[in-house]
Parts: sequence; C-alpha cells; structure tokens
Amino acid sequence: METYTLIGPFSQLVSMKNTPLKGAIKDDDLLSIQNAGIVIQNHRIKAIDDFSKLKQSFTTSDTKQIILDKNYVCVPGFIDAHTHICFAGSRAQDYAMRNSGKSYLEIAEAGGGIWDTVTKTREATKDELRKGIIKRASLHAKRGITTIEVKSGYGLSIEEELKMLYAIKEANTETVSDLVATCLAGHMLPKDFDGNHKAYLEYISDSLFPILKAEQLSNRIDAFIEKGAFTPQDIYPYFEKAKAIGFDITVHADQFSTGGSEVAVKMDAISADHLEASTEEEIKILANSNVIAIALPGASIGLGCDFTPARKILDNNGALAIASDWNPGSAPMGDLLTQACILGTFQKLSNAEVLAGITHRAASALHLDDRGILEVGMLADFNLFETADWNEILYQQGQLRPAQVWKNGQKIHQ
Ligand code: NIG
Ligand code: FE
Repeated sequence: METYTLIGPFSQLVSMKNTPLKGAIKDDDLLSIQNAGIVIQNHRIKAIDDFSKLKQSFTTSDTKQIILDKNYVCVPGFIDAHTHICFAGSRAQDYAMRNSGKSYLEIAEAGGGIWDTVTKTREATKDELRKGIIKRASLHAKRGITTIEVKSGYGLSIEEELKMLYAIKEANTETVSDLVATCLAGHMLPKDFDGNHKAYLEYISDSLFPILKAEQLSNRIDAFIEKGAFTPQDIYPYFEKAKAIGFDITVHADQFSTGGSEVAVKMDAISADHLEASTEEEIKILANSNVIAIALPGASIGLGCDFTPARKILDNNGALAIASDWNPGSAPMGDLLTQACILGTFQKLSNAEVLAGITHRAASALHLDDRGILEVGMLADFNLFETADWNEILYQQGQLRPAQVWKNGQKIHQ
C-alpha cells in the first residue's frame, strides 16, 4: 500500500506565503519554486521542494511517483467564498429587460427580481435543488474551484430555508469540492409574511437558528443590508442573536447604498461582500478592522455597475477576497477565474493580489485555515495549468482552464 504520492516536476509552483492577510501584495512576495514537486500523504501536503530532491528523499516502494512530461504551473485550489448556486429557474427575462433600459421597479412589476427566484425555488423539490447544486459545483470544480460557499436565501420561511440547507448538505456528500453553507434567510422580507421586517427577523432567529445548530446545517448567518431589503437597525438585533449562539457573521454590504459595511465592522463580521457603493469613509473603517472585503465582479458584470474599489481597499491596508456571487439574478455567469481577472484589469490589481483573492484570502473569509496556500500540512488542493509561466493564467483571463484539478490529494479532473 502506497503511503506517499510524489507529483512533478512543475515548471513553476506559485502560492501565497502564509503572510499578512491585509494590504497590497507585490508579485515578488509570492512563493515561487521552479521545477517543483509535491508529496501527498493522507489528503495533505507532506513536502514541497525541488522535484529532484524529493525524488531522492522519497524512493521506497511506499511512494507512487507521477512524473509529468509537459510544462505545468501548480497553484492552490481556488476558493469561491460567496455564491447562491442553490436555486431554481432563470432570470434571463430580467437580464434582457435590464439591458433594454427597464428599471428595477419595472422588472419587479413584470414578475422578476429576487421574488421570482424565491417562487421557483419554493416550487422545486429538495432533490431538484440538490441536483442543480451538484451540476453547478461540478462545473466549478472543473474550473479549479475546490471549495465553494453556498447560500440559502430563496426560501424565506422556516420550511423553505431548511429545504435549501438540506439540499446543500446532501449535495456536499456528492460533490468533489467542499461546500460551505450559509443561511441567508435575511435576504428580503418575503411578500407573503404577515408582519414587518422586525417580526420576520425575530421569527427566523427564534425558530430557524436553533435548528441550524442542532442539525449542523450552517455556522454562518448572512443578511442583505440595502434599501428595499433590511436596514442596519433591523439587522443589529438579528446578528446579535446569531453571534450569541456562536454563528459567524457575513454581510451583503454597500451594494447600491452604504450602511452595511459599518454593521459588518461593529458586529465583527468575517466578511463584508459587494461594496460597490463604498466611499472613502467605508473603505477606511473596513481597512481598520479585521473584516475581509469580498469583491463580487460577477455582479458588476451582470448588472453593468461599478466594480468594488478593490485597489483602494488594498492601498488602505484592507484584506480583499474575490468571489463569483453566482446567482440567477445579478451574477448569472458564475466563472470565478474570468471575473477575478477582469476585476484585476479594471482595478489595477497585481497578479499576486488576484491570486490571493481567490485562494488565501478567500479561505480566511470562510474561517478555513487548512487550505488556500501550498504549504506542508495543508490540504492537497491544487490546480495544474499547462503553461510554463503562471502569469499566463491571468493573462488569458480565464480562458486557460486547469489541465488537472486535485482535491484532498486525489485527481478529480483532467
Ligand atoms: O448577491 N444582493 C443581493 N443578493 C444577490 C442577488 C440575488 C438575486 O438577485 O437573486 C447578490 O447579488
Ligand atoms: Fe450575493
């Protein structure tokens, strides 16, 4: 029985070092090893070094050697820290109407918007939702994304939110990538709820939160702070209850108007996501906190809006992750690498900052300290791209796809 797997040589192995989470990063700050190899043991990285040195150290029959005969660059498995891939239906009509100049209100009046997806998701069975998640997560895995956060938030009642979260939990056992579930029951006030925003959030926190804990469905609570969704005043008591029972907090903040990032900082959230509308003031308070800013370029591209001020966040010493926001309404594309590259182009991010945003810093935004960098002891989650220069991965803006994807030390795609 082989104990070790040695794979290499890679023309280049590139990763963040286990360096500060915050601030600008230069390409020189990366770990970069030429002619590198990796030794895997029990799903984890046992050794990383020059390939010929590893070949000399791991010689016994305990080692399975995988010798590569092409140029490959090895980078960490990508992490998508914000998605809504549990949904039914399509919002192609919204997209067409929006692009022909119709307003948010006109689209909602024509039956579109988040409520349309809530209706379709409620009509779907748990099994249909589970299959939809598996299909989308499998496409993500082929594109090198080995950890995927997935939100509920299209159920908006105890029963329907539970249906979504069980679908995510079951899908997790059938996907090669790890799924991290987040409860987004605070997405909007459901149209059929008999009560105001405050009453709805009390109903969710009193009745749903204990079940999430007891059934281990999610450790994370999210809310959409925005005009037409929830105000900061609505959300403070909701998040306070969540924190008191030990949930991590994450926020849809400053997408169209400000207010959300301040809540994120005051509530010591792990991340504040969106931030397209953040001004200097919000950027400063975020950067002076431990909250990770998550840019969602897929939503900017889907809606035709400004990008998150990623450059300013980094230059103010903030921490920046990048996620896809894959959802049927504002971010239907779902292609994380392409979107991260485009954000890099428009926001003038170094390649190291883009890579950190979808690896090391994204792992921190999910409180996962066992992945996101290539280092001894970390999970053996990595991607091989057929090129000799890692800059090609970003230069080709997502069109260079991984030739091989490895998750927990197993090849899951080639
Ligand atoms: O992250 N901003 C709010 N929620 C989602 C969109 C959900 C939808 O439109 O269905 C987002 O963009
Ligand atoms: Fe979102």
